[in-house]
Amino acid sequence: MCGIVGYIGRQPAAPIIFDSLKKLEYRGYDSAGMAILQQGDLIIHRAEGKLSQLIDKVGDQIPSGTIGIGHTRWATHGKPSEANAHPHRVGRVVLVHNGIVENYHSLKIKLNGGRLLSETDTEIICHAIQYELERGASSFLQAIRSALHTIEGTYALAILDANDPTRIYAAKRGSPMVVGLGKGENFIASDIPALLSHTRQVVFLEDDEMAVVSVDKISFLDDAGREIQKEVRSIEWSPQMAEKGGFKHFMEKEISEQPRAVEDTLRGRILKGSQTLDLHPLNEIFQRKDFSTFNRFYLVACGTSWHSAMAGRYLIEAIARVPVAVDTASEFRYREPFVDNKTLMLVISQSGETADTLACVQEAKKRGATILSICNVIESSIPRQCHATLYTHAGPEIGVASTKAFTTQLTVLLMLALYLGEKNGKLDRAYIQKAVDALSKLPHKMQEVLQKKDQVLAIAQRFKEFQDFYYIARGVHYPIALEGALKLKEISYIHAEGYSAGEMKHGPIALIEPGTPVVALAPKDRVCEKMISNIEEVQARGASVIAVATEGDLRFEKLCQDVLYVPETLWYITPILVSLPLQLLAYYLADLKGTDVDQPRNLAKSVTVE
Ligand code: AGP
Repeated sequence: MCGIVGYIGRQPAAPIIFDSLKKLEYRGYDSAGMAILQQGDLIIHRAEGKLSQLIDKVGDQIPSGTIGIGHTRWATHGKPSEANAHPHRVGRVVLVHNGIVENYHSLKIKLNGGRLLSETDTEIICHAIQYELERGASSFLQAIRSALHTIEGTYALAILDANDPTRIYAAKRGSPMVVGLGKGENFIASDIPALLSHTRQVVFLEDDEMAVVSVDKISFLDDAGREIQKEVRSIEWSPQMAEKGGFKHFMEKEISEQPRAVEDTLRGRILKGSQTLDLHPLNEIFQRKDFSTFNRFYLVACGTSWHSAMAGRYLIEAIARVPVAVDTASEFRYREPFVDNKTLMLVISQSGETADTLACVQEAKKRGATILSICNVIESSIPRQCHATLYTHAGPEIGVASTKAFTTQLTVLLMLALYLGEKNGKLDRAYIQKAVDALSKLPHKMQEVLQKKDQVLAIAQRFKEFQDFYYIARGVHYPIALEGALKLKEISYIHAEGYSAGEMKHGPIALIEPGTPVVALAPKDRVCEKMISNIEEVQARGASVIAVATEGDLRFEKLCQDVLYVPETLWYITPILVSLPLQLLAYYLADLKGTDVDQPRNLAKSVTVE
């Protein structure tokens, strides 16, 4: 989720670009840069680290040019570094990018023989435009349009022609891009907060649209290059609201971002047409050491990431028929586990900085284990010490309570299970194709669930006075129940316990009293009948059951007063859908209580201490 800004007007562009990039800092980033056109010169400054390092680098040599673009980078391809920072330049093409170029491997070979100055996918877009110019494109704009038709993936782009200080080009597909309308000046940004101190009149670009922005004129173009009229919107948000995209909390915003986060995590990995999976970081590992040489496979993590690891075990064992052991990092590192050069360890961490998890990586590495990680932060401490990393592309997760990181972790774990199943011959092509088809529909199904959030709010309003909640489930949804309980605990401070539904009769059911809220996860799967019995058990003791069930499963109409339905899909995809109403329930109960949802008491986003 990079930050993009652009300015063209009569004032020096650099101070405005710095100020606008500052308004996007909340999103998290690892490097920054800007390009200014000034009396025929192109001035580019880039720096790793925070914006202050870029400003220090420019020092008192502030360019006076009145047209420029700027960028804060959240790395997706290539480590945080000055060389990978934007803007990137090839010939007269200078640009900043937010998004993922899916086909950059093939473009790299086609356009440049595989030689790039940076490790980024972005640079290939510069080469593609320059290639069209060299092939004789009728204009710089035409060169951009032709090049973008060869790009697969997502982009928000601000582009300069080093030979033309009179316009900035903006293009959008899959990543947000907003044009700000000023008086004698105009702006481009990836997000509204960057614009609010300059203008509240904005135009949102839609996918495959472009804008050609000059000092006194803006042309909007459709995918065919035809000029179109666009609605000008007036933004009434406060700057604080704008940072949260109009949502009340970052957590609410991040819950809503999950369809896109999952889509970005799937992108480039489930290959349509060939109906297979491309988890290329693993190919190299398993070429060096055949998967069958490992005699132990550990999944290790903390907190929410531990819950995804637990769910991952159900997926990998059932789909790939590979035995897996799961542990919290804080337990694993002190229980004298069996770890040697025949051990495969997969650690899961949103931040990549969790001390207990990092310690497990270091200890296992010392003992010769092969270590993989699933992480959301490129080149953070854990990936840097692992042999390979599968990144979730959830973008920066600001709220302390993990939401989009969790569902993207589950998505990667499912792809891993399918990949291992294919590798060890347990899955045939038809199985993989069915899975890939279902995964490609997952973001839309997630959106369907999130659109019913008012039903969850109504339930939260009815249960907001209760101080004890129980979450019960079976099978792969047992870890989801634990996660639902954790979400509620950590942001509302309401006591909540997740429990294996089959275990309730062995003690915990003694806690059920008339009215006790019990959230029961009972989607249509092989243990649904058992779940219905467990629901009846707790109802017999007076519990008020909030069931999460599969759309169309009419058994629940009479069984429970409160039912939250999720769309039907394959059993191993359902946990991702079931997680959503649980996140919303926790969020609404906490918001009704008035707790600090994004920064709950006693908690940190990244637990870098033991
Ligand atoms: C989740 O909502 C919590 N914030 C916490 O449990 C978190 O999942 C845990 O600290 C692990 O963090 P990591 O994924 O960054 O390693």
